[in-house]
Amino acid sequence: MTNDGPNAELDLLNAGFGCGERLRFVDSPLGGRVAEMSFHGARAIVALQGGHVLSYVPAGGGDVLWVSPLARLGTSKAVRGGIPVCWPWFAQHPTDPSAPAHGFVRTVPWDVVGSGANETGTRLRLSCPFPEAERARWASIADLGLEIVLGEQLGVTLVTRNLSAQPLKITEALHSYFAISDIADVEVSGHDGQGYIDKLDGNRVKRQEGGIRFAGEVDRIYADTSPAVQVIDERARRRILIMKSGSASTVVWNPWIAKSERMGDMGPGGYRRMVCVETANCGDTVVAIAPGDMHRMRVEISASPV
Ligand code: BG6
Repeated sequence: MTNDGPNAELDLLNAGFGCGERLRFVDSPLGGRVAEMSFHGARAIVALQGGHVLSYVPAGGGDVLWVSPLARLGTSKAVRGGIPVCWPWFAQHPTDPSAPAHGFVRTVPWDVVGSGANETGTRLRLSCPFPEAERARWASIADLGLEIVLGEQLGVTLVTRNLSAQPLKITEALHSYFAISDIADVEVSGHDGQGYIDKLDGNRVKRQEGGIRFAGEVDRIYADTSPAVQVIDERARRRILIMKSGSASTVVWNPWIAKSERMGDMGPGGYRRMVCVETANCGDTVVAIAPGDMHRMRVEISASPV
């Protein structure tokens, strides 16, 4: 009897890229295939669909990422929560209103191309084959990779290589949904004095004073942001530290009640349990990559008691 079908694929993945207890591939109860990573008591789960990080639990702590209870893998919609990868455009396509929001890589099954486990961390490298409809065009334009390293922090790096003879212009985001005890008890700090585009007020440019607190829908693009942002959760007595590089914008988003109801996939009261602080290049910041060059956008996430 031959061993083919889905289990054979899983066996091959584990034989080629598994690293014992540190990294293994399994079928998730959410319906798709995921990598389970561990490092000295810390754990992370990454879906191959979209290269989507679904969970990051630091040693001795709770999950730092929020995922909707309604989330399912293997549908045409991106999972609501975790860290969706938005590329090669953020939000609406600049000229084509029929194109999907946040680009076309969020729901594609990514390929595993590398892995490793040593004394500093557990690594997983993925490559995006692009959706079939875009492959013929994009395979000659760009190479898109994602590296996830679970060590003392969780590191996620999105790498874009320009394979074409023309400059490549992109916008992008690691659209991170952070888990919080309650939106009323949270402050996002690190933007005092910075300018932002208020997407809920006709894209007017405003200036932040103090920390960001939430009493209604918030949808903002902060420009020229500092590399360190914090989510301070007073009730949970937890601080999430977000350290970025290769990212000039930070998007801060909470849909609140009416938008959550329109979206339909947040789950009851979901908006109270999450805040998005997105490592990005978007709004007025467009990344131009010269022919043959590479651009890296990286975020390192950690948590500590307040
Ligand atoms: C945020 C945008 O980054 O993503 C919001 O600023 C948007 O405007 C949100 O609503 C969610 O987008 P999507 O496509 O995942 O529903």
